Amino acid sequence: MFEAEGRPKSGKTVFIRSYGCQMNVYDSERMAELLKPHGYRPVDAPEAADLVILNTCHIREKAAEKVFSDLGRLKPLKEESRARGRDLTVAVAGCVAQAEGAEIQRRAPLVDLVFGPQTYHRLPELLARRERSVGAVIDTEFAAEEKFDALARDRDAPGVAAFVTVQEGCDKFCTFCVVPYTRGAEVSRSASAIENEVRSLVSKGVCDVTLLGQNVNAWRSAPANGAGLGIRANADGSWGLGQLCRHLAGLDGLQRLTFTTSHPRDMDDALIEAFATVEKLMPFLHLPVQSGSDRILAAMNRGHTAADYLAVLDRLRRTRPGIALSGDFIVGFPGETTEDFEQTLALIERVEYASAYCFKYSRRPGTPAASMGRQVAEPEKEGRLARLLSLIEAQRRIFNSRFVGECLPVLFDRPGRRNGQLVGRSPHLQSVHAVAPQSMLGKIASVRVVGASGYALSGELITAPRDQRAF
Ligand code: SAH
Ligand code: SF4
Ligand code: F3S
Repeated sequence: MFEAEGRPKSGKTVFIRSYGCQMNVYDSERMAELLKPHGYRPVDAPEAADLVILNTCHIREKAAEKVFSDLGRLKPLKEESRARGRDLTVAVAGCVAQAEGAEIQRRAPLVDLVFGPQTYHRLPELLARRERSVGAVIDTEFAAEEKFDALARDRDAPGVAAFVTVQEGCDKFCTFCVVPYTRGAEVSRSASAIENEVRSLVSKGVCDVTLLGQNVNAWRSAPANGAGLGIRANADGSWGLGQLCRHLAGLDGLQRLTFTTSHPRDMDDALIEAFATVEKLMPFLHLPVQSGSDRILAAMNRGHTAADYLAVLDRLRRTRPGIALSGDFIVGFPGETTEDFEQTLALIERVEYASAYCFKYSRRPGTPAASMGRQVAEPEKEGRLARLLSLIEAQRRIFNSRFVGECLPVLFDRPGRRNGQLVGRSPHLQSVHAVAPQSMLGKIASVRVVGASGYALSGELITAPRDQRAF
């Protein structure tokens, strides 16, 4: 496939499937960029591909098992392509690859390449190695810093919104979670590298950036080169995410900034203050708490109580009234009693979320919670999940219905399902549907909200596009 100097002999095609979190989506986009100079063109279906990459997620059992069923479906495709003399290369990337490299090889011998989230920058080299070897090639080292240096500085920007990874990995070790094992220790990219990536995106028309990290608000770095005027560093001279947001907001052309996912323990003063002082920082925060019971929070090793969490939210609401709050919840953690669960419901009643993700506890091999006693029975988990989902759904409806009659700046970023309709995002990250000309795609316009459901707002366009700062 590769000539001596690493160039392809002819054009090839790649199909990449992302499972899991937004960081996997970001990683998949970077993989496609890395492969482009080697002659690989992305395609929409595995049937049309010479290389299939499954970028996997290990967070819950269902997500991890999905990979094996998808690999089962690729088997006949691989056999067919071999019969036609065109060998389909199958790669498993991401968090399942990191956690279960050997298991993948055992259960799915059709897999040619296995590489973790920290080594995908070596993909062209791994493909070349695969050409030369007989067995599968496995690379699951931890090399996050090297990876960030190797990624393209000049990114593709197909739309107006883009993700930028600023931090990766986790040092928190919640007892239920695989992330510290699959993504490794917390690593922050430098402020200057992030600024360069955002600049490159903005120069290509991106105006809405979401900063990503498994613990995005644990981001710490030296101030950006040549910056700092007017931005107060921390006592030790470093910047945290609050300072980074202030700095990036100074880039002309960037209109909206959000970040995800945060941990309650890392919500420092500068970050909370940024919600008041950085106009481009959207009034939205995803801050998972997992449970409302202090007993369960301790068993989860979250390092905070329900009261600590509520105190952070109270401060945020004083800083940015009307901020949309979102969270993650786990029901049926080992030892969770009905009383513990009632405390989670009480916390949700108190917070009034704009949205939230709710999960049944999933036992993950190798995590401390997997071997804890008093695992909760499946029907009990199901019942608790249903109650949680209906409470959250009611809160979403209430949150959304408050906007009916209001005018919001909406960034239109995709065509709607109905003819003549566009879909965009409000500053609170709600989906907003409105009849609007195609020329509005990629622009911010004022929309009067006329209807609301649990999932979206509908509105009427009232102005030509304008800068959201005018609102
Ligand atoms: N870093 C983030 C989220 C990481 S994973 C945080 O600290 O909150 C995303 C979500 O998946 C978690 O917030 C948690 O709610 C859920 N999750 C993680 N491990 C899980 C497990 N073993 N079972 C069920 N849900 C889990
Ligand atoms: Fe997982 Fe906890 Fe780290 Fe979040 S903070 S990634 S839930 S270990
Ligand atoms: Fe899944 Fe890995 Fe993200 S386990 S949620 S893809 S960090």
